[in-house]
Amino acid sequence: MAKRRVLTGITTTGTPHLGNYVGAIRPAIAASRRAEVESFYFLADYHALIKCDDPARIQRSTLEIAASWLACGLDPEKVYFYRQSDIAEIPELTWLLTCVTAKGLLNRAHAYKAATDANRERGEDPDAGVSAGLYMYPVLMAADILIFNAHEVPVGRDQVQHIEMARDIGQRFNHLYGGEYFTLPEAVIEAHVATLPGLDGRKMSKSYDNTIPLWLPAPELRKAILGIVTNSQAPGEPKNPDESHLFGIYQAFASAEETAAMRRAYAEGIAWGEAKQKLFERLDAELAPLREKYQALIARPGEIEDILQTGARRARALAQPFVARLREAVGLRDLRQVPMAAKARAGARAKAALHPVVFRDDDRAFAFKVLDAKKNVLAAQGGFADPQAAMAAAREAMGRLADG
Ligand code: TRP
Repeated sequence: MAKRRVLTGITTTGTPHLGNYVGAIRPAIAASRRAEVESFYFLADYHALIKCDDPARIQRSTLEIAASWLACGLDPEKVYFYRQSDIAEIPELTWLLTCVTAKGLLNRAHAYKAATDANRERGEDPDAGVSAGLYMYPVLMAADILIFNAHEVPVGRDQVQHIEMARDIGQRFNHLYGGEYFTLPEAVIEAHVATLPGLDGRKMSKSYDNTIPLWLPAPELRKAILGIVTNSQAPGEPKNPDESHLFGIYQAFASAEETAAMRRAYAEGIAWGEAKQKLFERLDAELAPLREKYQALIARPGEIEDILQTGARRARALAQPFVARLREAVGLRDLRQVPMAAKARAGARAKAALHPVVFRDDDRAFAFKVLDAKKNVLAAQGGFADPQAAMAAAREAMGRLADG
């Protein structure tokens, strides 16, 4: 059995912060060590161009994010680790997908809708300042995912709509060209991964400007932690850990025993100053060795470049033959080739349109029907003991219909 493919992209516009580490980098690297998955992690630098027109910043962010993932233990030989813009097949697939994507689907994308709604509210032209890149964002993202036939895409809630669009687009292509070209991906929201509170207690996020950069030198990390907002309870007063974001951050780094001990310390009235010092020590214990690796990596950009080039070569070994197959499917073909008979194409389409229905018939047994796109019944049979048996028979009947 082929391994399940897990894929995710990281937009290269910023510097990683503690929230990215706890919410994305750390869990993704842990997941990439599972034997039963094949992982794809990439630097989404084409996506970065949509939000950022500062070339130096794009380059710097790409370097920092690549170095961060490597420093945190991503093994580039065990996973596919590459830069989006090194995979020429991604923009190529983007165009093939663009041509099967309904414009109306893109009109409904959250990011585009938010931009046009804001313009309307200000009484401006809805599309003012909206680039075609922002509009096309979901198609590029669909190409990222579909090109490697990923099964699972771990993302934040804000990205779920994009994964659903990738499914829609992939399904439409499969249907139009009559084949199972694309695996339909599923969004995976890591429910057990904590969202880290930021300096002000809201979710740590660049958009709230409440982040702590991941790679601050120890003294600056300590200073940032001292700046976390607390209430005005005095030393000795019992404190409620569940209302304290200081505790929330501690918990994201500590073991169960350490967390329990810290709960007791809160109940016993630990001073905020001391709680902050303890948080700093715990964070630094985990981050100091990684920070050292990070500094060593970032000092040698050529090595990171080599790692990404190797990753791109491996990824393209999958993408190139796949895109060749897709070009062939849509008709971008060698002119000497004998065209696929129209009948075979029609047969393939009809097969993609068949679907089974299982239901209970009068005598309490189960039955199936196989319908085509126009709801004509092409096969039917009753008398099955359970729905599974009826479904299995329906699938067999579909196979016969498709072959015949
Ligand atoms: N759009 C994603 C984000 O902003 C990043 C991204 C680009 C991505 N391509 C992807 C995530 C493909 C998952 C799969 O977070």
